[in-house]
Amino acid sequence: MSLRDLITAYDPDRPLARAETIPSGWYTDPAFEALERRVVLGGTWQLVARLDQLARPGAYVTVDVAGEPLVIVRGTDDVIRGFFNVCRHHAAAVMTEPEGCAQRLRCPYHGWTYDLDGGLRAAPEFKEVEDFAAADNGLLPVRTETWEQFVFVNLDPAAPGLLSHLGGMAAHVAARGVGGLRFFARREYELACNWKVFVDNYLDGGYHVPHIHEGLGSVLDYRQYRIENFETYCLQSSPMDTSGGEDETAAVRGGDMAFYYWLYPNLMLNWYEGYLDTNLVVPLGIDRCRVVFDFYFAPDSDADHNARSVAIANRVQEEDIGVCESVQRGLHSRAYETGRLSVRREAGEHLFHRLLHRQMLAGIQ
Ligand code: FES
Ligand SMILES: [Fe+2]
Repeated sequence: MSLRDLITAYDPDRPLARAETIPSGWYTDPAFEALERRVVLGGTWQLVARLDQLARPGAYVTVDVAGEPLVIVRGTDDVIRGFFNVCRHHAAAVMTEPEGCAQRLRCPYHGWTYDLDGGLRAAPEFKEVEDFAAADNGLLPVRTETWEQFVFVNLDPAAPGLLSHLGGMAAHVAARGVGGLRFFARREYELACNWKVFVDNYLDGGYHVPHIHEGLGSVLDYRQYRIENFETYCLQSSPMDTSGGEDETAAVRGGDMAFYYWLYPNLMLNWYEGYLDTNLVVPLGIDRCRVVFDFYFAPDSDADHNARSVAIANRVQEEDIGVCESVQRGLHSRAYETGRLSVRREAGEHLFHRLLHRQMLAGIQ
C-alpha cells in the first residue's frame, strides 16, 4: 500500500457513531513514521523545557524535536531563545549536556563560540578565510514561545502561534492556578509502543479506568466523567469522590474535580487540587516512545506527601504500560486493521485521529 493510500484509508468525515480508528499501518509503517515526524512533530508546538530550568541568564536545555537537535537558552537580556544545536562550522553539537548554565555556547570540536543570543563570537584560526562574515554564521534560530511554566518550540515557521494553538485551553488551565504550583520531580518511562498508542489510551474517556486502574477508579465518579472536544485539545473531567476510595490514592488526590487536558498532538496536563503533572510523549521510532512526567505541587505541600503522590501516579503509569505494549503487538497482527469507537467514551480519540489525518494529508500534498 502506498503512503497516500494508507493516509486516505482513514475517513475523517464519519460521525463518531460510524467512525473507525486510524488504520494499524499508522502505528507500524516506517514511511508513515518518517512523514509524521516531519509534518506532525515538526509542525506543531512541542514542549521542550520548564521555566525553572531556565531561571537565570545562561541556563540552557538541549533537546531533540522531530530529529532536530536544539538548544534553548536564556540570554543576558533575559529573553529565552531556541537554536538548532548544530555548529555552523562542521555541524557538531555545540552544547552536549542535557542542561546546565553557560556564559557562552562553545562548540567542543574546534572551539567556535557563540553568544547566548546565538551570534558567532569567536572562530579560532579563521582570519585568512575569505568571504566569511561572523554575522552570517550565528546559530540558526527556532521559534520559541512560553506559556505558564512551559517553554515550547515549533520547527514550522508558518504554523500559528502557541497561544492560537492553545485556544481556550490557556484560560481554562490558568483558572486552575497552575502558575502557583512548583516543580517537584520528573519520571521518565520507555514503552514498546508507538507514541499514538499512548495518546489513544489517554483519550479513551476513562473507558479503561475500571478495568486497569482500580485505585484511580475508586476516587473518580466514573458515570459522570465528561469528554469535551475543542479545536486542538480535548478536556476530560470527572467529579472526585474519595469517600469510598482506596486509602493510598484518596490521601493524595484531593479536591472536587479532576481535569485532564490533552493538547494536540502529544502533550497532556493532569490536574487535581494543588497538583499537576505534565506528560510529554516523545516518539523514539515506529514502536517505541518515551513518556516524560513532570510533577508540580502547591508550594506548601510537604515533600513526603508529594513523594506519595508521585508513587500513585507511577502505579497508574505502570498499569498503562502493559496494555499499551499489548496493543502495539496487536497492531502488528494480520488480525487487526481498524476498530470502532465508543460514542460515550472515545470522542477524544476521534478528534486526535481527525487532526492527525488533516495534517498528514496536507503533508503529503
Ligand atoms: S564543528 Fe563546531 S567548531 Fe568545528
Ligand atoms: Fe490509564
